[in-house]
Amino acid sequence: MELITLADYERAAAETMHPQAAAYCFGGAGDEVTLRDNLDGWRRLAIRPRMLVGVGERDPGITLLGKPRRHPLLIAPVAFQRLAHPDGEIATARAAAATATTFCVPTLGTTSAVEVAEAVPDAPRWFQLYVFRDRGVSRELVARAVDHDYEALVVTVDLPIYGVRVRELRAGSGSLRPGRVPSALAAGAHGAVTRDQITALIDPDLRWSDIERFADESPIPVVVKGVLTAHDARQALDSGAEAVIVSNHGARQLDTVLSGADALSAIVAEIGDQADVLVDGGIRRGTDVVKALALGARAVLVGRPIVWGLAVDGADGAQRVLEILLAELDNALALAGAPRAQDLDASFVTPAPWR
Ligand SMILES: Cc1cc2nc3c(=O)[nH]c(=O)nc-3n(C[C@H](O)[C@H](O)[C@H](O)COP(=O)(O)O)c2cc1C
Repeated sequence: MELITLADYERAAAETMHPQAAAYCFGGAGDEVTLRDNLDGWRRLAIRPRMLVGVGERDPGITLLGKPRRHPLLIAPVAFQRLAHPDGEIATARAAAATATTFCVPTLGTTSAVEVAEAVPDAPRWFQLYVFRDRGVSRELVARAVDHDYEALVVTVDLPIYGVRVRELRAGSGSLRPGRVPSALAAGAHGAVTRDQITALIDPDLRWSDIERFADESPIPVVVKGVLTAHDARQALDSGAEAVIVSNHGARQLDTVLSGADALSAIVAEIGDQADVLVDGGIRRGTDVVKALALGARAVLVGRPIVWGLAVDGADGAQRVLEILLAELDNALALAGAPRAQDLDASFVTPAPWR
């Protein structure tokens, strides 16, 4: 059967992935209330379209961190991508390059940020940082990313410790098979081979003062990923961040937290006139992207769907997933009567009558 939607890729990936890998990639925390709500949050918004505005020419372009971008999609940082396909992060980078999509390369990649940059130099890229207890290792990872033309540092702040991920616990110990240990960690992993050991490297005592230090030292913009309140978004800016990503980590950390869709507006109201606000979680349709931009997000990140594309068909699958979403976005911009993505505002959405 031809795969036409991201949901088609989800089903196909579920059939091909190893059960343990699938549990890791598909699952959320706790009872997965927030996992479901990440999708529902966007569905609870209705679009208020405008007619006869002339949509023959459309432009999904936006400006992010002061730079014009062809479209508002980014690839979210997703750890251990070789669990989905042997080409892992390199395949994702190829898909990113083919679609002009910025790829947030994860600290816990199964291919190092340096190798990704060298293998696919034309992939637009940001580096996602988990701050380790050993700050020397973190500084070294950042220095290498800066040396390899990473454009921004995405500091993830919502994983001081690991969430209670029931699917993963049921699926087994969480060991990574040989060759799938994050090579980026060679300097600091001290032979770690399980997810628990690897996540134990992360500093649970990270504070805003640490963000301030990273922002002070970083020659590239710092983006704080994982805030859900206006208070924390303001803290991020006060600590030197140039953008924030409204995110609940794909519902993998604390269950029953707010969805991105529900957290976004308050954060845009607090800092939207001073900094870029991005959002992720549950973006599966072009209409979801339109709604996020209408609520004031500058751009959106996509996590699991990239994994599904990888699992189904490596780089080509990940590219196809992005192309489907971009085609749906183009369609939604036309039919919503917002031919330029930059023109979307809150008047294009309303709480859905069916919520
Ligand atoms: C398998 C998997 C691994 C992830 N690993 C990371 C990570 O290493 N660092 C990080 O900041 N976020 C990580 N995330 C969260 C994503 O960056 C993103 O916030 C989330 O997946 C967005 O939701 P979506 O999957 O519904 O698109 C991961 C998500 C998944 C599904």
